[in-house]
Amino acid sequence: MRGIVLAGGAGTRLHPITRVASKQLQPVYDKPMIYYPLSTLMLGGIREILLISTPQDLPRFRDLLGDGSQWGLSLTYREQPRPGGLAQAFILGEDFIAGEPVALILGDNIFYGNMRILEIVRSFTAGALIFGYYVQEPSRYGVVEFDKESGRVLGIEEKPANPKSHFAVPGLYLYDGKVSEMARKLAPSSRGELEITDLNMAYLQLEELQCRMLGRGIAWLDTGTHASLLEAANFIFTLQQRQGLQIGCLEEVALHMGYVRRDRMAHHVSEMPSCDYRSYLERRLLDFN
Ligand code: TTP
Repeated sequence: MRGIVLAGGAGTRLHPITRVASKQLQPVYDKPMIYYPLSTLMLGGIREILLISTPQDLPRFRDLLGDGSQWGLSLTYREQPRPGGLAQAFILGEDFIAGEPVALILGDNIFYGNMRILEIVRSFTAGALIFGYYVQEPSRYGVVEFDKESGRVLGIEEKPANPKSHFAVPGLYLYDGKVSEMARKLAPSSRGELEITDLNMAYLQLEELQCRMLGRGIAWLDTGTHASLLEAANFIFTLQQRQGLQIGCLEEVALHMGYVRRDRMAHHVSEMPSCDYRSYLERRLLDFN
């Protein structure tokens, strides 16, 4: 499976923080935000990743992440000239997807918790798969409605004023190889975007949309507002402080997944400046002996 990280957008709600660098380059406690969704794809077994961002920010992502080989990844980049909607990712990335299954993750979404979600990513093959996550304020998101008896998806509404359930659709979506063709058939919404909700509805009409519930043991955080950004940072800080283990540490994930050999990683770590991140990795490297 291939992966796309969508890291463009306007970031208007985080103004003035996002005036000179995009939302996904901002820190969530001790790492750039983009590290967290990237680590989720890596843990899902995905190593071929396309990062899509704005023409202004793409060079900064390239500087930060390079070709990904330090983490055993193949990272490529593509511009989204203007925020044309989440589903545009599949048109921009059509040649990258090349008819294979693909996971899309939003660059400002953080997932943390048990491995169920990653097992689902790893075993996905056909149609489309979205997740449902119980939230207090569903009207901020795409909201999925179910048949109470069968659990079948009845519909999805984008930011509804009167949500039909408490289940929001998080920013991690799985599609089969026909997704680009499906995205091409979408018409822009009233806000001028190709909506991911319309794409999911198109799969639903083909009876090829599955929705899996993420239980209470998983944390899904987004970081689109100042308050949610601070909440996410506090969450990461609290867990890391308690355990002494890092969340979203790409080097550690690469070692854990066997994407990079230990000696190669040790060399990469030795080139880091002296800092807590480096000390942590030096400690972890001892455990991967
Ligand atoms: P949003 O949070 O919906 O939008 P935004 O990031 O532009 O922020 P704001 O609403 O404050 O202006 O976007 C969700 C994610 O998707 C985020 O990581 C940005 C990304 N995105 C794109 O890369 N391209 C797009 O066309 C859109 C709409 C979003």
